[in-house]
Amino acid sequence: DRPLRIAMLGCGVVGSEVVRLLGIHTDELAARVGTPLEIAGIAVRDPGRVRGAAVDRELLTTDADALIARNDVDIVIEVVGGIEPARTWLLSALRSGKSVVSANKALLATHGSTLHDAAAAAGVDLYYEAAVAGAIPLLRPLRESLAGDRIRRVLGIVNGTTNYILTRMDETGASFAEALAEAGELGYAEADPSADIDGFDAAAKAAIIAQLAFHTPVTIDDVYREGIGAVTAADIASARELGCTIKALVIAERAGDRPGISLRVHPAMIPRSHPLAGVREAFNAVFVEAEAAGQLMFYGRGAGGAPTASAVLGDVVAVARNRVAGRQGPGESAYAALPILPMGPT
Ligand code: HSE
Repeated sequence: DRPLRIAMLGCGVVGSEVVRLLGIHTDELAARVGTPLEIAGIAVRDPGRVRGAAVDRELLTTDADALIARNDVDIVIEVVGGIEPARTWLLSALRSGKSVVSANKALLATHGSTLHDAAAAAGVDLYYEAAVAGAIPLLRPLRESLAGDRIRRVLGIVNGTTNYILTRMDETGASFAEALAEAGELGYAEADPSADIDGFDAAAKAAIIAQLAFHTPVTIDDVYREGIGAVTAADIASARELGCTIKALVIAERAGDRPGISLRVHPAMIPRSHPLAGVREAFNAVFVEAEAAGQLMFYGRGAGGAPTASAVLGDVVAVARNRVAGRQGPGESAYAALPILPMGPT
């Protein structure tokens, strides 16, 4: 069988882990997909800075446009992050009939509808499980398993860095700065930690979750946002006296009987008996409440190279299987717009 050929854009912590896992599991993945997966090329800004022993230096190029345009490329993986040039690259990949797997939450939270429309028009797949909550299967359940249900509410912890910081402040009395430095050393924090601390990372994830949960166009600008920068050791001590702990939460919910949804990201006091209080360090946990399914909880590692690479590879297998079968995965372009209700913490 003709192999399916992959172009990878970016080769940092996640990308080099994707290459390593593709190398280790070559035969198993080929059996699962029905044909071998091969890397056609890896576009990076600076080949000299690429780490990872598994990465074949011969595959590196600085010309992403030429790599995407190659006729022998079937699947484009994007692990670069940021809006541009990723947006332009992925639109041209989709328009030229390539399936796309992205880990780019900022992009999907800002231009998700445009990318979904481009995928639908070209009849190809757009998957991005790794953009939200790392290894935890969450987006596929929202898009597929729960597609026959009506989701009322999604509530959870989706930022590992802030959860790590709040856990360390609570359990060890570490200062905010010490805990942030540790989160950076462990590879959880974004390059610019304000993306985590000020809630932008969680707000982007909230927008992606809400778009899939409620089948309506949502962007990061629709999400009410408060970071954890103002949480002090004294706040955590007061919460403790009340039998509570402080967690940075994402809340996305339907507005009761009215048409509309509310989306917010902010620190909240929760009772120590609540299951989210036991979510420690960089773990993520998301509750989904659906009308027929009831309450579901998704829990696991939401950040880090290997967990995120697991989610990327799961998507690669899904889109590869779809290409082999000549079919397309679930589309998300036919949205009915629901009002976004302006709302702070309630
Ligand atoms: N900085 C993010 C986090 C990485 O801490 O959760 C995963 O998106």
